[in-house]
Amino acid sequence: MNLDKESGMPLYAQIRDDIHASILQGILSPGTRLPSVQAMAHDRQVTQATIRRALQDLIEDGLVESHVGRGTFVTRGAHPNQSHTLSARPRSIQIPDDSLSKSIEELLSLSSNSACIAFTRGIGDTGTLPEGILSRLAHKALSRGESLFWDSGDSRGLPELRESISRMYSVNGYSVRPEQVLITSGSQQAITLVAQQAAHNGTPVLCESPCYAGVINSFNAFGLSPKTLSRDEDGIHPDSLASVTEPSLLYLCPLVHNPMGTDISPAKHQGIADWATRTGSTLLSDEIFRDLHFSNDAHSCSEQSSFLARPGLSHAIILGSLSKSFISGLRVGWIVSSEDKIASLARIKRAMDLGCPPLMQGIALAFLEDEHGYKAHRLRMITHYQERRDATLQALADNMPSGVTWTYPSGGFQLWLTLPPGASSLTLLPLAIDAGVSFLPGPLQDSEYRCINSLRLCYGSLSPAEISEGIRRLAKVIRMYLTERHQDPIPAGIGDY
Ligand SMILES: Cc1ncc(COP(=O)(O)O)c(C=O)c1O
Repeated sequence: MNLDKESGMPLYAQIRDDIHASILQGILSPGTRLPSVQAMAHDRQVTQATIRRALQDLIEDGLVESHVGRGTFVTRGAHPNQSHTLSARPRSIQIPDDSLSKSIEELLSLSSNSACIAFTRGIGDTGTLPEGILSRLAHKALSRGESLFWDSGDSRGLPELRESISRMYSVNGYSVRPEQVLITSGSQQAITLVAQQAAHNGTPVLCESPCYAGVINSFNAFGLSPKTLSRDEDGIHPDSLASVTEPSLLYLCPLVHNPMGTDISPAKHQGIADWATRTGSTLLSDEIFRDLHFSNDAHSCSEQSSFLARPGLSHAIILGSLSKSFISGLRVGWIVSSEDKIASLARIKRAMDLGCPPLMQGIALAFLEDEHGYKAHRLRMITHYQERRDATLQALADNMPSGVTWTYPSGGFQLWLTLPPGASSLTLLPLAIDAGVSFLPGPLQDSEYRCINSLRLCYGSLSPAEISEGIRRLAKVIRMYLTERHQDPIPAGIGDY
């Protein structure tokens, strides 16, 4: 097929309509397996994201179906004549391509029984919280007068909470004012606000690979196709930014990266900060694990890893949250940035929900203001998660076959495990679930569904005994898989799904 790059019609829509027409004309008959995304992208000289975007529409219209591990097929019994004229769809907001995520979710739901040791939960252990803490904090918040919580108040957040957060960031000679803080419904909403603004302004976006999956979802939801930069354990290489010269938005997680668990190196930090200043770009810096950094560790570099001081708030939007360090159900997160960025994001937030629930903010404030209680809680969490990290690292070292590698987390409760080249974490997952253990496969943490031979292990909510049994099971199934897979090719359509 010849793509017309000048026609004004998006390439994905031309490809989609071409496949649509082939189905309609019977050139592609029901049950036919489509070439892999990689092959189609290569044939048409477009990116895999473009092909995936075309397939997404065809899947939504029921014309093709994707099956994890098998590929994409023309649907049997599809009625192409009845489907929409695809190119006529509104394109302002695009539906995320979640067919792979859905299949994985279905698989992972099988692991929700108590016999399965799930390394999938990206949340901490509520056992670290003193009993009855929420009732006490709610009582303390309400004791300031119920009427404080009767209306939605300042849509930027409770002024006292913004002050408290600005004090938290005003360390090491650095000063943050309350006007530079916006309270959000978790940091996920903060990511969505920034994505929405980038889509509106037509700002090019970039993200790391692997990357926190929620960012990929937000970017997709606004039709942003991020340029993906490969991340090593110590961050993306600043050289990979060399060709990006226009002002852009770069999402990155410099401190206790999700999924890798590691920090950016000082040299890469410097290179990225310099690039942002040089090109007038903005770093969307996800620092929500800040309070779960093991700063007593030899590997620590928590303050240096933040983009708060360098390149500074005119080029950085810093994300924070109480979800990892306290309770994710509170839905309290925040943005720290320059006053004008906060003002423009606050306008979007106001249009979205008028502001976060004041009572939840009151509880968050009571928690942060209880200086002694918060400090003690933080120390308890760090000891707790360090113990679990060490149990995980020990179990991995004791059990994993050679060729399997993993990262060394600087905090939090996740690490990134990599199988030998050619192995597939997606093929491994059902085998692992059968063996009573689960994990999050790599492709869900890459905007192009790559990272096929890697996976994330979250151990925050597991006991040391569960960790050691879970890793033993995982190692056994990996050993079996690596021995028996007879050099399977990477499943077609995966990694280039
Ligand atoms: C790196 C990272 N950023 C942001 C979020 C969103 O968290 P929340 O909206 O609960 O603050 C998560 C959640 O898992 C995460 O892992």
